[in-house]
Amino acid sequence: MLLKNKVALVTGGGQGIGAGIAWSLVREGAKVAILDRATGPAKELVDEINSSGGTADSWQVDVTDYAALNDVVGEVDKAWGSIDVLVNNAGVVVPPGPFMDSDPADWDHILDVDFKGVLHGVKACVPRMLRSGGGAIVNIGSDSAKFGEPGIAVYAGAKGAVNSISKSLAKELAPSGIRVNVITPGIIETPMIDLARSTPDGRAMIDGTVSTIPLARMGAPREVGDVVVFLASELSSYLTGQSISVNGGMLMIG
Ligand SMILES: NC(=O)c1ccc[n+]([C@@H]2O[C@H](COP(=O)([O-])OP(=O)(O)OC[C@H]3O[C@@H](n4cnc5c(N)ncnc54)[C@H](O)[C@@H]3O)[C@@H](O)[C@H]2O)c1
Repeated sequence: MLLKNKVALVTGGGQGIGAGIAWSLVREGAKVAILDRATGPAKELVDEINSSGGTADSWQVDVTDYAALNDVVGEVDKAWGSIDVLVNNAGVVVPPGPFMDSDPADWDHILDVDFKGVLHGVKACVPRMLRSGGGAIVNIGSDSAKFGEPGIAVYAGAKGAVNSISKSLAKELAPSGIRVNVITPGIIETPMIDLARSTPDGRAMIDGTVSTIPLARMGAPREVGDVVVFLASELSSYLTGQSISVNGGMLMIG
C-alpha cells in the first residue's frame, strides 16, 4: 500500500471525480476526510468505504468560507492526528455560453470556489503538514485552461490561476518538504459533465470534443484518482510544480 495510515483530505469529495479520488486513496491505505458542501452523497460514500474495510469520514463545509474550512481541517487533524495529503478538488461550472452573455455574479461564484477555494485549502492545511515534516498537495485544474475552450472562459481562467498559483507554491513550499502538483482532467464522466450537457450548445461542445479524443471515450473518476495516488505518494518524490493532463490524449503539449 502506497499511503498506509496517511491522512488525506478531498474537497468536493462527495461525488464525481472527488469520489473516485477518495476510493483510490482508500485502496492505498489512506484515511480519507471528505469535505463537501452537500451532505447526502458524502455520507453514502463514507458508509460504502467503511463497509468495504476502508476508513473515511465526511464533514460538511463550503470551501469559499475560509474560517469554516480551517475549523474543519482542525477537526480532522484532531481526530486522526495529522494532515498528509490535500486534494483541492471542489469546483463548479455554469452552463456554457458566450462570455459576453455571462453574468458577473456567476464570475464571482466560479472564482470563489474554483480559485479561492484552493487558496483556502492550502492556507488551512500547510501549517498542519509542516508539523509532520511535509506532505503533498494535488490541485485539480482543467485542460480547458491549457487549450482555450470557448463558452467557459471564466471557468478556464480560474483553472489557469490554479496552475499558476501551484507553481509559485511549489517553489515556496519545497524547502518544507511539501510538494504541489496539478492534475488537469480532460472530460471525465461526472454529474458536472451531465450539467454541462444539459443545454444543446453544451451537449454539442462536449460530444464534439469527445469525438476527437484518441482513446475515444470520456474518462472515469478513478482514472483521475489513480494519478492522485501517484502524486500523493513517494512514487512521485521528485515531482513538484507539475501539471499532468488526464485526458485520453485529447491535448498533447510539452
Ligand atoms: N468532469 C470533468 O470533465 C472535469 C474536467 C476538468 C476539470 N474538472 C474539475 O474536477 C473537479 C471535480 O469535478 P466533477 O466533475 O467531479 O464535479 P461534480 O459537480 O460532479 O462534483 C463536484 C463536487 O464538489 C462539491 N462542491 C461544489 N462546490 C463546493 C463548495 N463551494 N464547497 C465544497 N464542496 C463543493 C459538490 O457538492 C460536488 O460533490 C472540479 O474542480 C472540476 O472543475 C472536471
